[in-house]
Amino acid sequence: MRDNPLVLHVLGARPNFVKAAPVVRGLAELGIRQGIIHTGQHYDALMSDVFFADLGLPEPVANLGVGSGTHARQTAALLTGLEDVVLEHRPALVVVYGDVNSTLAAILVCAKLHVPTAHVEAGLRSFDRDMPEEVNRVVTDALSDLLFATSPEALSHLANEGVDPAKVHLVGNPMIDSLFAALPKLDPAPVQERLGIDGRYAVATLHRPANVDDPEAARELVDAVLGVAEQVPVVVPLHPRGRQRLAEAGLVDRPNLKIVDPLGYVDFLSLVRGAALVVTDSGGVQEETTMLGVPCLTVRPNTERPITVTHGTNRLVTPASLPAAASKALGDGAATPSGELPPLWDGAAGPRIARVIEAWLRDDNLSPAAKGRAR
Ligand code: UD1
Ligand code: UDP
Repeated sequence: MRDNPLVLHVLGARPNFVKAAPVVRGLAELGIRQGIIHTGQHYDALMSDVFFADLGLPEPVANLGVGSGTHARQTAALLTGLEDVVLEHRPALVVVYGDVNSTLAAILVCAKLHVPTAHVEAGLRSFDRDMPEEVNRVVTDALSDLLFATSPEALSHLANEGVDPAKVHLVGNPMIDSLFAALPKLDPAPVQERLGIDGRYAVATLHRPANVDDPEAARELVDAVLGVAEQVPVVVPLHPRGRQRLAEAGLVDRPNLKIVDPLGYVDFLSLVRGAALVVTDSGGVQEETTMLGVPCLTVRPNTERPITVTHGTNRLVTPASLPAAASKALGDGAATPSGELPPLWDGAAGPRIARVIEAWLRDDNLSPAAKGRAR
C-alpha cells in the first residue's frame, strides 16, 4: 500500500452530505487519511451548513463555490474546479455519492486523470433518461472502479450494463445509517411547536424539475396538494428550486397549508417521524419514510428505489390520484407489503464501505499513474 494514501470525498448537494457522513466516520475509525471537497453546488446555509453541523461532518478542505447554473454551465464549473483540486491533492481514491451534477463531474475528471473512484449508491435506475439524475447515474457507474450498491436490484442493473461484478459490493444504505444515528435526536414536538402545528399533519417536499419547472405541471401538482390539505394540514419545507413557480401556481400559506424554508436534517426528520403522511418527489425521503414506517406518496411516474414500494411504505401516484391516495393512506396507515426493511438497511453500511475501501487500498489497487506518484 502507498504510504498514508488520501481518500477524497466529493460532495455538493444536500443528499450527498447525508450519504457521506457514515462513510467518513467509518474511514476515520480505521485511521484512513481523508478530506471533503465541497463543490458549492448547494450553498445556502439551510441547504449545506446545517447538514455539516447536524451530521458531524468535518470542515471541507476546499469549497469550489460553483453555485447554480444551467446543466452545462454548472457542470463546466465543476469540471474545471475539480480538476485543479484533484491535481493538487493527488488522492489515492475519490469517493462520490448519489446522482447529482457534482457526482458526474467528479467521475469524469478522475477518469481523465486516471484517478480511481468509488461510487456510493451505484446501480439505481429509474430507466427514465429525461431525469438529469438518471444520466448522471449511468455515466458514473460506467466509469467507477468500486461500486457500492444499496439494494439488491442494483446488482442486476449493473450486470446488464456490462459492469464487472468483481467491482460491485452490496453494502446497504448509508442514508439509513445517518437516520439510525439521528434517531435519538428525532423529537417532533419542538419542531411542531415552532411551526405552530397541532394534531395530525402531512409533510410535503417537491423539487423535481418534471414537477416544478413547467407551469402547467406545477399547477396540477399544487391542485393535488391542495386536495390533500382539505383532508389534513400540510407542511411544505420548500426547496429553493421552483419556489417561485409553485407560489404562482397557488402553493402559498393558507389555513391548512404551511410553506416554510427548507428544514435542517434533524428538524426535517423529526417532523417526518411525527407525520401521518408524507408527499414527496425526493429520492432520499422515499427511503427514510420506509425506515420510519411513515406512509409515503411519491408524485412521480417511476422510481429508482422500487424496494421502497416492495419492502416499504412508498406508493407512486400521479397528481390526479394523489388526493384519493392520501385519503386511503390516512385511513390505512403504513402497512408494509413484506413487513421487513430492505436487506442490509441496518445502520452498518458506512463501516462496510470503509472496510472494502481499506482492503482495496491495502491490495495496492492504485492506478498506474497513482502508483508512479506514490514512489
Ligand atoms: C440537485 C440535484 C438533484 C437533487 C437535489 C437535492 C442535479 C442535477 N440535481 O437539484 O438530483 O435531488 O439537488 O436537493 O444535480 N438553489 C438555491 N440555493 C442553493 C442551491 C440551489 O437557491 O443552495 C436554487 C438555485 O436557484 C438553483 C436551483 O436551486 O438554480 C437548482 O439547484 P441545483 O443544484 O442546480 O439543482 P437542484 O434542483 O437543487
Ligand atoms: N431534507 C432535509 N430538509 C428538508 C428536506 C429534505 O433535511 O427540508 C433531507 C432529507 O431528510 C434527505 C435529504 O434531505 O436526507 C434528501 O434531499 P433531497 O430531497 O433534496 O434530494 P434527493 O434525495 O431527491 O436527491
